[in-house]
Amino acid sequence: MTERTERYEGKTALITGAGGAIGRAIALRLAREGAAIGVLDITRATARETLAQLEKAGARGLALGADITEDEQVRDAVAAMHDAFGELDILVNNAGHSILGRIEQVDRAGWDNELAINLDGAFVCAKAVLPAMAARGHGAIVNIGSVNGLIALGNPAYSAAKAGLLSFTQALATEYGPKGIRTNMVSPGSIKTDIATWRIRQEKDPQIFEKLARWYSVGRVGVPDDVAAAVAYLAADEASFVNGANLVVDGGLTAGLPVLIEEMILE
Ligand SMILES: NC(=O)c1ccc[n+]([C@@H]2O[C@H](COP(=O)([O-])OP(=O)(O)OC[C@H]3O[C@@H](n4cnc5c(N)ncnc54)[C@H](O)[C@@H]3O)[C@@H](O)[C@H]2O)c1
Repeated sequence: MTERTERYEGKTALITGAGGAIGRAIALRLAREGAAIGVLDITRATARETLAQLEKAGARGLALGADITEDEQVRDAVAAMHDAFGELDILVNNAGHSILGRIEQVDRAGWDNELAINLDGAFVCAKAVLPAMAARGHGAIVNIGSVNGLIALGNPAYSAAKAGLLSFTQALATEYGPKGIRTNMVSPGSIKTDIATWRIRQEKDPQIFEKLARWYSVGRVGVPDDVAAAVAYLAADEASFVNGANLVVDGGLTAGLPVLIEEMILE
C-alpha cells in the first residue's frame, strides 16, 4: 500500500468476497483512503489474511466469516461491524464465482448455485444494510458485475446472474436514491487473478492472458486494482450525482472488436 489519503476517513465499508483477489484489492484501496473495512468472506482464513494486510498498513477492520446467501450470517456480520465501527456507509457486493460451461453442460443445480451466489447474495446483503442507511439518509452500494452480464461470453448461468445484478442495481438506485443511497455497478472484463477458473485455463494454455489481450483495445487484460479504482470513485462523495450507473472496466472489450477489424479491413 502507498500513502494514506483522506477520501474515506471516518467511513465504514463492508466488502463481500474480500478474501479473494478483487475484493482484497478493493478492501486495501478503501482502507488506504481511510475507511474501516468489514472483510467478509465465506472463507474466514482468507478474510483474516486480507485483514492482516490492512492492519499492517495501519488501517482498521474486522474479518467476518459469512455466507452471503445466508440471511442470518449476513445480519450478524453487519451487526458486528456496527458494534465495532458504527453504521455502515458503504456496501460492496463483490463475492461471486463462475463455473466453466456451455448451456448443455449446465444442470439445474449448477444454474441455481450461480444465481444464488452472484445474484441472491447481493440481494441478501443489500437488504441487511438498507434500513439503517435509509434511516440515516446516507449510503453507497457498489455491485460487481461482469462483461458476461452484457454480452454472451460463455458461462450462461453466471451471465444471467450478472445481467440480473444490473437490473437489481437499477432498482436499488431508483427506489433508494430518494432516501440518500446511491447504487452503482462495476462490470469488469477479464481480470488476471489466481481464481480456479483462470488457473484451469492457464494450465490448458500458459499463454492465455497474452492471447486474450488481442481482444482488448488497450492491449492487456485487467488487474484487480483496475476494479478497485472504479469502486473507490463510485462509492465516494465526489460521485454524488452518479446513481444507477454501470461503469464498464473492460479495456474496451465491449466497445469494439480489434480482432474482427483486423480481419475485415481491406488493405
Ligand atoms: N476475475 C475476473 O476475471 C472477473 C471478471 C469480471 C468480474 N469478476 C467478478 O469479480 C468478483 C470477484 O472475483 P475474483 O476474481 O476476485 O474471485 P475470487 O474467487 O478471488 O474471489 C471471490 C471471493 O468470494 C468468496 N465467496 C464465494 N462465495 C461466497 C459466499 N457464498 N459468501 C461469501 N463469500 C463468498 C470466495 O471465498 C472468494 O474469496 C466476482 O463477483 C466476479 O464475478 C471477476
